[in-house]
Amino acid sequence: MAKSTRHPSKLSIVGAGAVGTSLAYAALIRGSASVISLYDIATKKVQAEVKDLAHGTQFTHSVVMGGDDISVVKDSSVVVITAGAKQKPGQTRLDLAATNAKILEQMMPQLLEQAPEALYVLITNPCDVLTVVAQKISGLPTAQVFSTGTMLDTSRLRYLIAQRTKVAQRNVHATIVGEHGDSEFPVWSSANISSVPIRDWSYAGKRVFTDQVLEELAHEAAFAAYEVIEGKGATNYAIGLAGARLVEALLSPTRTALPLSSVLQGYYGIHDVALSLPTLVSSAGIERVLEIPMDPTEVSALHRSAEQLRASLTTLGY
Ligand code: LAC
Repeated sequence: MAKSTRHPSKLSIVGAGAVGTSLAYAALIRGSASVISLYDIATKKVQAEVKDLAHGTQFTHSVVMGGDDISVVKDSSVVVITAGAKQKPGQTRLDLAATNAKILEQMMPQLLEQAPEALYVLITNPCDVLTVVAQKISGLPTAQVFSTGTMLDTSRLRYLIAQRTKVAQRNVHATIVGEHGDSEFPVWSSANISSVPIRDWSYAGKRVFTDQVLEELAHEAAFAAYEVIEGKGATNYAIGLAGARLVEALLSPTRTALPLSSVLQGYYGIHDVALSLPTLVSSAGIERVLEIPMDPTEVSALHRSAEQLRASLTTLGY
């Protein structure tokens, strides 16, 4: 029996840009993994980022390494891919598909050589499309290659609801599913605040979440990234924190339910497209995509999201 090449707690991050370094920094502070390795082809940049992170490791519980040689990802438990072109103001995530698919086609075989047993997480956008590309190029099981998907969008939505109700985010149970992009949507039919259905949440006898408010919240969460990109040129902190939390789940034998994007094989009749749904993950990767109850409008919205992604994949030739 060949000895497992998979390190018990090594996170490798591909891409030392704003997202990759924010993920490294968040994982370092949270102690998400014992070893954090940062890889990028930009030698000076990645060496400086590794140094800057390592200089603070006296105050943390992890070690930091990395560089411009792909061997720094060797034997990783989890490889998070953040490298690629990022959205410019006004650009959709799907607009990045051709450019970033090419980068992935070139990089994936090299990564697999170094870390064949790692769990692969796509953050580079369009993350749902690139999850299918990565899975097809690598031939890995769909349980081993997936994306943060709408984990970040769900966090944005819960923040917005918590702000409006002054209730702690951990008591807000609302999930965004579908594309990590313009066709995503919240599953309002099962959303609740501490078991109170969101549509029943009232204040001084008045319903807080009217249909109009729900529509506004869904739009604000779905288009939050555009607003941040307009203001500072990129989004990085929230996705870095979401990625660090996901890494912790992927290094634990306990199953955690998170909204993640993986290649579906028949979910509500959807095949060979990756989009986000509540998913059980652990150190074994994706264990189960949960068949959550949805009302007919939500099922149609899920199919619309799948069609958007299918169109992008077809254009790419996948
Ligand atoms: C965002 C990027 C990660 O939504 O797609 O901020």
